[in-house]
Amino acid sequence: MALLLIRQDGKTPQWLNAFKFQATHIECYDFNEPHPKEKITMALVWKQPQGLFGQYKNLKCVASMGAGVDFIFEDPSFHDDLLMTRVVDPLLITDMEEFVMAHVYAHMKGLYKYQTQQSISLWQQNPYLRKKDITVGIMGMGVLGSATAKALLTQGFNVFGWSNSKKRIDGMTTYVQEDLNLFLQQTNVLVCLLPLTPETSGILDHTLFSKLPKGAYIIHAARGPHLVSEDLIQSIDQGHLSGAAIDVFPKEPLEENDPLWQHLNIHITPHCASISSPESVVAQIIVNYNRLMSNQPLLNQVDTAKGY
Ligand code: NAP
Ligand code: GLV
Repeated sequence: MALLLIRQDGKTPQWLNAFKFQATHIECYDFNEPHPKEKITMALVWKQPQGLFGQYKNLKCVASMGAGVDFIFEDPSFHDDLLMTRVVDPLLITDMEEFVMAHVYAHMKGLYKYQTQQSISLWQQNPYLRKKDITVGIMGMGVLGSATAKALLTQGFNVFGWSNSKKRIDGMTTYVQEDLNLFLQQTNVLVCLLPLTPETSGILDHTLFSKLPKGAYIIHAARGPHLVSEDLIQSIDQGHLSGAAIDVFPKEPLEENDPLWQHLNIHITPHCASISSPESVVAQIIVNYNRLMSNQPLLNQVDTAKGY
């Protein structure tokens, strides 16, 4: 049995080091180096080149290095006999809570507007919002969405949630699928923390934006294809939305000539809302590797029938 790490952004050595440090007994290989294909039973992947899994006849499990698994579902070589796991990690959770919170506060305090004013040396005090004026609506009340909702509640914000199944969290109202309009009507800061699935792809579009109150702000930290970026730009330019913080894009890195870069009311970050830390995440991969060897149920296994 052996573990194969497949990612191509130069970060594999950090992951291999974390394994070396925490589990000397696991034979780990870098996909980019020669490796014994017949030994590989588990693949730990991040945006792997598509179509590879069929080459590994003894592969039993594909583990995502992150919370999202869309890039595994999209891979035509992923098949029904393979197990899939994802990351649920305390650091990943607090990083996301902090990222969303930072944007909510920046929006509330008008910091983005002052940044723009500074660029033209404009000294002008703007009216700003207070917590009572902010209603944060979180689309996707899973591991990250629920934790972020609770963090915002602790800070005294009004928070609403929307998900497939009903959630019960003290101090907030939660909605399910069919209540989308009701959820949107009450939300003036919309946070997207949905998984990317056929149902959620393109969900952040003109129709959805039009159901938000005028002046609403978008914080999108899920996956690029959720957002129809032309619709976002149009809704801001028409004065319906006040702006957006966007962390994820259909093609990453975002191309140099993409109009999103130049928009004064759009704040771009390079998919860094929360990034898996190998030192923190490797422990759960080691547990799963050992469980796989002894045919025990895996941690954080993805229900492949559900699709996320
Ligand atoms: P999760 O625990 O699987 O939660 C997903 C949530 O979305 C669940 O509440 C689920 O409802 C809901 N949902 C799924 N499909 C839906 C639909 N069609 N309509 C309404 N609600 C739906 O996932 P997570 O760990 O919180 O992560 C969420 C996503 O964040 C990941 O998939 C990834 O794409 C993204 N992410 C981004 C970054 C970044 O740095 N930007 C970092 C980490 C993760 P139920 O609860 O009813 O199932
Ligand atoms: C990051 O985008 C993740 O899915 O963990």
